[in-house]
Amino acid sequence: MARELHDHWFKEAKREGYRSRAIYKLSEIDRKRHLIRTGDAVLDCGCAPGSWMEYAAQRTGPDGSVVGIDLLEMVPLPGRNVHVLLGDLRDIGDEELLAPAGLGGTRRFDVMLSDMAPNTTGHRDTDHHRSMALCELVLMRSGSLLRPGGHLVMKAFEGGNFQELVQRIQDCFEDVKAMRPAASRSVSREMFIVAMDRRADAELTLPPPPSGGPPPVPDDWSRGS
Ligand SMILES: C[S@@+](CC[C@H](N)C(=O)[O-])C[C@H]1O[C@@H](n2cnc3c(N)ncnc32)[C@H](O)[C@@H]1O
Repeated sequence: MARELHDHWFKEAKREGYRSRAIYKLSEIDRKRHLIRTGDAVLDCGCAPGSWMEYAAQRTGPDGSVVGIDLLEMVPLPGRNVHVLLGDLRDIGDEELLAPAGLGGTRRFDVMLSDMAPNTTGHRDTDHHRSMALCELVLMRSGSLLRPGGHLVMKAFEGGNFQELVQRIQDCFEDVKAMRPAASRSVSREMFIVAMDRRADAELTLPPPPSGGPPPVPDDWSRGS
């Protein structure tokens, strides 16, 4: 709390009435990469307490829609086209995510965001591998949730398997960059992978077992317990 009271982005979020300082990470990424457009349908994975949804709803406007999902309950957001689902991204089917935005069949999201993070343990490798499992989950789900030409942003904790993940994403998207927004804390090892223009022929396959990490059992990695 003491750290937050002295934090520039925390104060800024309070002053502007946003739910979290995280909004400034997405706004910087969007300003630099032009991710979200008026009328877009956006899926926000790991949306609580809701500042990315606040930002996305402002950007998409009344003709767009924003669907968020989180393990944690959050205070509802205003807006006819803003929907929050409570649950684990691993357990909620495509139809349940697409339907609130009026999508389904061949109509999918224009933009998919993930600020999901595991509960951190303080053990670098463990936190990295759990974060990688969440990223793999998001990448796999983007195969059926994101339209060809759509954009994907995901948070990842850096570590030994980070570059391999970036390469796998490069196979599926035309333009992939790793960014570290100014609002990321200096002590954090988070990076944001920003992937533009999903290839129509992207082939999403399960990742190879990580080097130096546990076997690829996403259930163990990403629950964060
Ligand atoms: C850093 S917070 C997101 C902050 C949010 N972007 C904002 O601007 O308010 C990460 C969230 O990811 C959620 N999360 C982690 N694993 C998840 C999963 N498997 N399914 C859904 N949500 C998950 C956590 O509950 C947590 O609320």
